[in-house]
Amino acid sequence: MSAVTVFAPATVANVACGYDVLGFAIDAPGDYVVVRHSDQSGLRITAITGDEGKLPSEPAKNTAGVAALDLLNHLGKSDLGIEMEIHKRMPFGSGLGSSAASAVAGAFAVNALIGSPLSKKQLLPFAMTGEASADGAWHADNVGPSLLGGIVFVRDNAELDVAKLPVPDNLWSAVVHPDIEILTKVAREILPKEISLSDATTQIGNLGGLICGLIQSDYGMISRSIHDVIAEPRRQKLIPEFYEAKRAAMAAGALGFSISGAGPSVFALCEGKEVAEKAGAAISKVFSAIPLSNQLHISPINTEGVRVVAEVPALS
Ligand code: HSE
Repeated sequence: MSAVTVFAPATVANVACGYDVLGFAIDAPGDYVVVRHSDQSGLRITAITGDEGKLPSEPAKNTAGVAALDLLNHLGKSDLGIEMEIHKRMPFGSGLGSSAASAVAGAFAVNALIGSPLSKKQLLPFAMTGEASADGAWHADNVGPSLLGGIVFVRDNAELDVAKLPVPDNLWSAVVHPDIEILTKVAREILPKEISLSDATTQIGNLGGLICGLIQSDYGMISRSIHDVIAEPRRQKLIPEFYEAKRAAMAAGALGFSISGAGPSVFALCEGKEVAEKAGAAISKVFSAIPLSNQLHISPINTEGVRVVAEVPALS
């Protein structure tokens, strides 16, 4: 193969009750990476678009570059001549797994270019190294679903022991990104180092309940389980009108509502596209009334994850 273009989707991490251990992929937005063989030895980043000049083009300092370098090094192909283009089509600091999508796209694109010697699951550690180079934290709840697709449960982040959960047929999401930026590092620092036994018990019950609900396509159980007593109560203050947006989503029929990853994006999980559209519009209206501009993404759970595509869409 002489050139490959790939798309890695945005993700909703935590899914309320699964802090650092649960995430799902959505259809859009996401990041694109193009790679092609080159006569010049080593990996070079030759173009970056959609990043507002924020991303370094030195491969060792760039999430997509670090993931690709780590993979090439592992395969003993560090000298292989490769040109990489990165096309960001999602915002930074959005709570949508922006750095994870770039890292996943970088590792997957290079692997595809050289004939896919590794499976998607085997690419996980390399994509993780790429993401960790951006925010310093090691949690697979964005990288896992962006790479593998679907709803991914992480039993252990250090071991990267992950499993794809069943996705009920009619499960849709409404994700709304208000135009403010929250640094993941800051959103992690405001969390307590210790929690009470009672909060731990509640959270474990809800996480188990959500997983049972997904396995059994039990929307009632899913709905009763989408609660977060650990991160949401602390992080909600970073998101204007959070509880008003939650009230609006639930009144529109959502199964549950919470913060996407570290925020500021929020999500509603819904039974069916129609409810997702109603809930999404209701959330968007709350932000717009502040006024706070925002983008709404309605999507079923993206069960495929990163994939090869024909071309990169132009910047809008
Ligand atoms: N689980 C992470 C967090 C996701 O909530 O901080 C952010 O990337």
